[in-house]
Amino acid sequence: MKNGEVTFLVFRGEREKGIFKEYKIPYQEGMVVLDGILYIQSKLDGDMAVRWNCKAAKCGSCAAEINGKPSLMCKTKVKDLEQPIKVEPMRAYPHIKDLVSDTSWNMKTRRNMIQKIGFSPKKDANWRMKDQDIEKGREFRACIECGLCLDTCHVLREHKLFEKFIGPAYLTFAAYLETHPMDSANRLKWLKEEGGIMYCNITKCCTEACPEEIHITDNAIIPLKERVADEFFDPIRMIARKIFGGKS
Ligand code: SF4
Ligand code: SF4
Ligand code: FES
Repeated sequence: MKNGEVTFLVFRGEREKGIFKEYKIPYQEGMVVLDGILYIQSKLDGDMAVRWNCKAAKCGSCAAEINGKPSLMCKTKVKDLEQPIKVEPMRAYPHIKDLVSDTSWNMKTRRNMIQKIGFSPKKDANWRMKDQDIEKGREFRACIECGLCLDTCHVLREHKLFEKFIGPAYLTFAAYLETHPMDSANRLKWLKEEGGIMYCNITKCCTEACPEEIHITDNAIIPLKERVADEFFDPIRMIARKIFGGKS
């Protein structure tokens, strides 16, 4: 930190058009990027748009790109970063203003999944939840829907296949639904046809971006892809389906 000062370059503008504006602000011990951004907003540029809520890495709303890496602003320490610190909105999503992207697709996707392939309980009145049943979904339940994995995934970021692929966060949500022992839904057809699971080519970039350290690719996506492949691309099952029809 030069002379107790931190230099930020913050994207300012609307609908993708804008510039990186430089701000020099005083450094404070333990400062995170969100502290710097809120300082700029309160003391230097009151009209800067930024989204945040908890400042505790739990609500997922302060997701942005910091020095080119999708990160939570409230979890990223200033002292660990090279200066100037470049802060910009998540680029995979449509831009609204300054650091705010339009992430309404997330809500739409989740709502659609709940309607079409949501939790569907078995009819078993005597069933009791055990500790190990709760444990199974714990990792996936930790998702804070920050969108950082979605911002990183090339299928959405570069190819913009938002209409065809639900992306890593919602494949994680599907994996979570699958862990519930009372669940009876079969989601494989939906995941293949509407969820676009086969667009994922297991690059694992989403896993690296996840602030909750969910093993998105290894624990959520790969097991789901394997089941989809077994169900729809296994030649023996395909022959069985032709002979007997419907689900093999
Ligand atoms: S592993 Fe799949 S979901 Fe994750 S970033 Fe790569 S293509 Fe996207
Ligand atoms: S899986 Fe991780 S990176 Fe993706 S939305 Fe959830 S918490 Fe964020
Ligand atoms: S403000 Fe809630 S995750 Fe950063």
